[in-house]
Amino acid sequence: MRDTTSVTVHPARNILGSVGVPGDKSISHRYAMLAAVAAGRSRFQNFSPGADCASTLGCVRALGCGVERERGEQGTVVIEGLGPQLRAPDAPLDCGNSGSTMRMLSGIVAGQPFTTEMIGDESLSRRPMRRIIEPLTRMGAQIHSTEGGCAPLRITGARLHGIEYLVPVASAQVKTSLLFAGLLADGHTTVTEAMRTRDHGELALRAFGAEVDRLRNTVTIEGGQTLHPLEAYIPGDISSAAFFLCAAAVFPESNLVIDGVLLNPTRSALLDVLTAMGSRISMVRVEEQHGELLGTITLVPGVAKPVTIAGAQTALLIDELPVLAAIAPYTAGLEVRDAGELRVKESDRLSAVAQNLRAMGAQVEQTEDGWRIPGGQRLHGAEIESFGDHRIAMAFAIAALRAQGETLVRNSECVAISYPSFFADLERLLER
Ligand code: S3P
Repeated sequence: MRDTTSVTVHPARNILGSVGVPGDKSISHRYAMLAAVAAGRSRFQNFSPGADCASTLGCVRALGCGVERERGEQGTVVIEGLGPQLRAPDAPLDCGNSGSTMRMLSGIVAGQPFTTEMIGDESLSRRPMRRIIEPLTRMGAQIHSTEGGCAPLRITGARLHGIEYLVPVASAQVKTSLLFAGLLADGHTTVTEAMRTRDHGELALRAFGAEVDRLRNTVTIEGGQTLHPLEAYIPGDISSAAFFLCAAAVFPESNLVIDGVLLNPTRSALLDVLTAMGSRISMVRVEEQHGELLGTITLVPGVAKPVTIAGAQTALLIDELPVLAAIAPYTAGLEVRDAGELRVKESDRLSAVAQNLRAMGAQVEQTEDGWRIPGGQRLHGAEIESFGDHRIAMAFAIAALRAQGETLVRNSECVAISYPSFFADLERLLER
């Protein structure tokens, strides 16, 4: 990505105040896609303002659905769904930077009686797609990709049939793609995951009226069910709140409240990690909406204990690992294992984090599938490369707050992928 925006981050004295974060990206994608195949008008408040979810909305519109953002109502999106059969798009669907759009929407277009092309930006065109190509092909779709199994994808849809599938990588996107395809298929589709991942796909299907069965790590959906439209409020994205929570954890005098944030147990492992480090977190006003929990979090800081993250916990923390690593030098130390998937995100996040921590003077050992980061380190400001990756840019804006001297975050415009107002919201919480 060309560097159109570098942001200078100055050290802070403290983190204080209360903030709400944008609507959850994972839920916004799923609600928009299911609204497309539910006949009638769905309406979502606090829909993610990020560019990734805008890519999903663009694709849904290209598939024949009405999509409107309500005027005056910030973050309200209305979608006129067509029911299970969508309209053939007259141009390739542009998924932008969004792996979620390409992988999950593939499940829906695979069940349509037409051919769809899906394209993405440079980063998305490098990301692995065989993980959905293989099972969707088994269900009856025909999918062409590059030789390396990447986008552009050309998906010739079909009348799909259900399969039983063991997902070989920990990926909620793959699970969701297959459940969406299963909804449009004949018979049952059963997806088993070796490692439990976020369950928004299952919960969203139920919210739209489908019956979905779960037994431990196995989810089954019967094809041919009719969805009804949905009106819903989308909880704040905990992966966005993660930046402020991690910042507050390393300032001993901080006091942070985050309102209306998603507390789904498959997404809130960060709270367990910060607690294990020594922070105290309380939740109030917890409620459930369409199967998703949300509430208000208060954090009393503390990072005196070292932490190791591995196995099942790594899968549940996959989006929060960059920011945890970015604050790790200011804690009592962090070891992360089993995070090889970070190499195939919007950037190679294992290398991006190690490189940027070193630029700030930190000691960090990068392993095959994680890092070892000693605690009790002092960092200095530096020039940080975001690699066009929103979570890397935001993670190092947070690391910069406790460094000596200022930090330049290059290519910071990429924060708009998930959190366009990140720098403005952060600024309001800082005491300098
Ligand atoms: C997501 C799943 C994860 C995550 C991504 C969103 C989802 O990706 O990293 O930001 O909404 O299902 P994988 O499925 O590739 O692990």
